[in-house]
Amino acid sequence: MAKILAFVGSPRREGNSETLVAEFLKGSENAGAKTELIRLNALDIRLCQACDACAGSGFCVMRDDLRPIYAEIAAAAGLLIMTPIYFGSLSAQTKVFIDRFQCWWHAKYTFKRPFVNKEEKRPAFFMTVGAWKNKSYGQNAADIAKVYFTSINYRLTGELHYTGFDYPGSVAEAPAVLEEVYKAGKDFAREALKTYGAVHRGEE
Ligand SMILES: Cc1cc2nc3c(=O)[nH]c(=O)nc-3n(C[C@H](O)[C@H](O)[C@H](O)COP(=O)(O)O)c2cc1C
Repeated sequence: MAKILAFVGSPRREGNSETLVAEFLKGSENAGAKTELIRLNALDIRLCQACDACAGSGFCVMRDDLRPIYAEIAAAAGLLIMTPIYFGSLSAQTKVFIDRFQCWWHAKYTFKRPFVNKEEKRPAFFMTVGAWKNKSYGQNAADIAKVYFTSINYRLTGELHYTGFDYPGSVAEAPAVLEEVYKAGKDFAREALKTYGAVHRGEE
């Protein structure tokens, strides 16, 4: 069964981002989905060097931990990206990951051979958590995530932005937030399984 992949852009183990993602994925699993939580900070992901090799092939020439992840994203049923707010936007871990999809941009727009077909309408979800009660930070981050999801042919179906959480794991003490995220994960999985099943029925 294809998975829901959740990318966490925080370096904190069991911080607010991880706590929220764990809850989201609990909801997804309850709806019958297979899930995987991937910590971007634990991976060796080099910075895009704008070498433009991908402009001639649609593939990235770098050999690092992103290699197998390209294939995982090409095969996933749904994607979640979760980032803490750093200086009013995405964490560096999240942005470095996103920039390395310039090859998918070329695959889609230059070569007209995207790794994921837009017609499949595979869903994506985006979440942020920040310390200060400033809604524009989450929106800044979401603007970038939208460009990313459009470029890789995933469809942003939902987003949640939480403010006022700073200490690691403090969001675990907000039951209403956990409940909302659990439900979002459940609804997202239903959508992902429906969408994926409509395209790939009988393949597995
Ligand atoms: C480098 C850095 C920059 C930050 N910048 C912001 C910011 O601009 N706005 C904000 O609301 N919180 C900011 N924070 C606070 C984090 O977003 C907050 O602690 C969040 O809960 C961390 O999530 P985590 O536990 O998943 O890492 C910053 C934290 C760090 C380490």
